[in-house]
Amino acid sequence: MSFKELLKSDLEIIERELEKYFEVKDEAFPHLFESMKYTTMAGGKRIRAFLVMMFARLSGGSVEAAIPFACAIEMIQAYTLIHDDLPCMDDDDMRRGKPSNHIVFGEAQALLAGDALLTYAFEVCADNKHVSPSNITKAVSILAKCIGACGTVGGQVLDLEGEKRKLTKEELYHVHDLKTSALIQASALLGCCTSDKGREYFDVAKKYGHNIGIAFQVIDDILDVISDEETLGKPIGSDAESNKTTFLDFYSIEDAKKYAEAITEEACNGLGDGDSAKVLKELAYYLLERTN
Ligand code: IPE
Ligand code: IPE
Ligand code: MG
Ligand code: MG
Ligand code: MG
Repeated sequence: MSFKELLKSDLEIIERELEKYFEVKDEAFPHLFESMKYTTMAGGKRIRAFLVMMFARLSGGSVEAAIPFACAIEMIQAYTLIHDDLPCMDDDDMRRGKPSNHIVFGEAQALLAGDALLTYAFEVCADNKHVSPSNITKAVSILAKCIGACGTVGGQVLDLEGEKRKLTKEELYHVHDLKTSALIQASALLGCCTSDKGREYFDVAKKYGHNIGIAFQVIDDILDVISDEETLGKPIGSDAESNKTTFLDFYSIEDAKKYAEAITEEACNGLGDGDSAKVLKELAYYLLERTN
């Protein structure tokens, strides 16, 4: 199967499996489940879910075992986006081509939908029936570290500080590493937690995830300037409007792209030559050329 065919077929699986988690589980508060489902099922690219699946394949795990981890990662991705768009954060009204969660459900409900998605993700990981208890423990620990105070949340804190003062290049690199790369790295690592042999691939997953994660945010910073709202599915010019420090404070668009290319090449070194490695390389370069 080619990279594009595999991506398409994995995304069909993820959409189908993810949706199953959002039946209303308590009729006393159906809006909570609706708001959780609203952003999660609004059609993200599912790159992080695909990474879980691909690193499971690369490291000898099964796709069956990867699916719950992939769904959990997409729940966390949706939670970060819901909170990221809130008025107290980036204050963006559009996400995944639809009005942002807080525009539809209100701020308090959006905040709580994010909280519930974050917690749900850990439940889904812990209940993964296709993975051994020790690998589940490892996965949960990795995930908690990557998205906690010294991961995504810390990155978001520094990112907001970058609206009040211009961050240094080193600080901005740290922001990108934490706010974006950490979850991408966690996705690769969770793929490796689907089998006992997977631990041998942790270093490869860390290096690949770290580098494509930074490149991903560099491209995101560029798209915020050069794209349009319809293609991107979210507002453009959001970073400039909030006076946020971004990669383009230090690099021209052309040089930022070159930097992203260089770290993408670095990401792919050490993946090997097998079929899954080839797909991961194609994915890395595809992400450089993405338009949304
Ligand atoms: C958006 O991530 C947040 C960033 C890290 C830039 P994506 O561009 O992967 O968003 P979705 O999941 O496809 O909507
Ligand atoms: C991405 O930050 C990181 C997270 C959402 C955690 P951005 O603020 O750049 O993401 P977009 O551009 O709103 O998707
Ligand atoms: Mg943000
Ligand atoms: Mg934002
Ligand atoms: Mg952005």
